[in-house]
Amino acid sequence: MPCDAPSCAPQSINNLRVLSIQGRYKLAITNLAGKVVIVTGAAGGIGAECARRLVASGAVAVGLDIDAAECMKVFSALGSPHEFRKLDVSSAADWRRVTGEIVASHGRIDVAVLNAGVMSRPRGAPIFDSPLNWFNEAAYARVKAVNFDGVTFGIMALLGQPGLSRVIVIASGAALTPLPMDPFYTATKFAVLGLARALAPTLMHENVRIDVLCPGAVDTPMTPEDVRASFKQQSPGFIADGVVTLLSADDMPAHVWRAYDAAEGLVACDDMADNVMDAIQTAR
Ligand SMILES: NC(=O)c1ccc[n+]([C@@H]2O[C@H](COP(=O)([O-])OP(=O)(O)OC[C@H]3O[C@@H](n4cnc5c(N)ncnc54)[C@H](O)[C@@H]3O)[C@@H](O)[C@H]2O)c1
Repeated sequence: MPCDAPSCAPQSINNLRVLSIQGRYKLAITNLAGKVVIVTGAAGGIGAECARRLVASGAVAVGLDIDAAECMKVFSALGSPHEFRKLDVSSAADWRRVTGEIVASHGRIDVAVLNAGVMSRPRGAPIFDSPLNWFNEAAYARVKAVNFDGVTFGIMALLGQPGLSRVIVIASGAALTPLPMDPFYTATKFAVLGLARALAPTLMHENVRIDVLCPGAVDTPMTPEDVRASFKQQSPGFIADGVVTLLSADDMPAHVWRAYDAAEGLVACDDMADNVMDAIQTAR
């Protein structure tokens, strides 16, 4: 499905105020041809589909994943100049290494799609299992490391790299509405949403736009079988189309988007707080 298909277009804009700041949401990349786009968690699910659709839009995709073997399969099919590199997003040192390598090889990083994520529910745990069964230090450390440190360290390593103008964080509907089946997951997704919203005005002054895309249930290996059976799933392609739309459409006037249903499209979720922060930044 092309990125400008009706299902990708923002069909409703909630809580959106008239924007008084010129250029507040600019930085659309109307032509992705030749743009260097990195995608974390690109070995499967939403990340792999993002890489495929970005490549179909003309971008040069660099996939990053801790699972090098699976990532290699995805990128072998895409062919050169697209490539994958092994990255543990939870390591700041690994982020510094890989961004240095990509800039050395491609000259720039125009766009980052920070998508890698994990749940604390063990794969296969029954849907009605109490989350207290894995409410422990190990589960907390893992989920925080991938979902929150992974985004934070990524932004740290990317800022100042040549070309960077767009960052898209794949959070979750759990960043907007708590998911009782996974409190750690919920907490980390709330955290990345807060980080991005607080950073957004400052980054705009650096000519970097950050968006947060919050999918609902998506048909990927992350979602346990019995959860899949209980909820309607969207395709990873719907989320990937949303990413392409966010990057390339001229008028995407918000920083936070929910993507729950392909028929509904992307729905803006920003509120007043963003504009207040913008005004403070502009007054500096
Ligand atoms: N599947 C859903 O229903 C759903 C819903 C809302 C949000 N999301 C979010 O979408 C994103 C992608 O999820 P998905 O459904 O495609 O899951 P997935 O399990 O299919 O893919 C996640 C990818 O992240 C990679 N990864 C895990 N730890 C990593 C690390 N330390 N460093 C680098 N890569 C690592 C995995 O190897 C995998 O390829 C996640 O952030 C997830 O929270 C998913």
